[in-house]
Amino acid sequence: MKKIIGVIVALFLVYGMPSSGHASPVTTGGEALFRSNCSVCHSMQPPPKTAPPVLGIASHYRKAFSGRDEAVAHMVKFMQQPKEDASILGSQAVARFGLMPAMSMGTEELRRVAGWMWDQYDPAFTCK
Ligand code: HEC
Repeated sequence: MKKIIGVIVALFLVYGMPSSGHASPVTTGGEALFRSNCSVCHSMQPPPKTAPPVLGIASHYRKAFSGRDEAVAHMVKFMQQPKEDASILGSQAVARFGLMPAMSMGTEELRRVAGWMWDQYDPAFTCK
């Protein structure tokens, strides 16, 4: 009997514990989504990898849109179907880096990572 209880306790420890902390927003937050889906191409600051750095994107979006919701909606649409004429960074960025490939993530996740990107805006960062 003692043995069985020991096994149950062990199973609980092995399988029960990890799932208890699963719903944590940290694993699915904008920054985590960025790290796993975007950071392979986008660095935070110059020098760029194969795409414009996040601080530059955030700065351009702050200039182009007055509200976060509007900017996020545009970013999400762009990520689902990137088009040069919809690019806020413009044809110069597209000529330099190429067009971004479409992201196959869900709309909710795209919205979260786009909001995170908008929030990275740093007024001290200037891009020409
Ligand atoms: C395979 C490389 C690659 C990945 C992965 C990638 N991007 Fe990009 N992204 C680019 C390139 C290249 C550009 C610049 C050209 C353009 O605007 O299409 C760009 C531009 C952008 C822009 C500016 C669009 C505009 O209005 O001009 C945003 C916003 C953006 N990326 C967000 C993201 C986010 C968020 C992710 C992750 C979910 C991501 N990107 C993943 C390559 C990538």
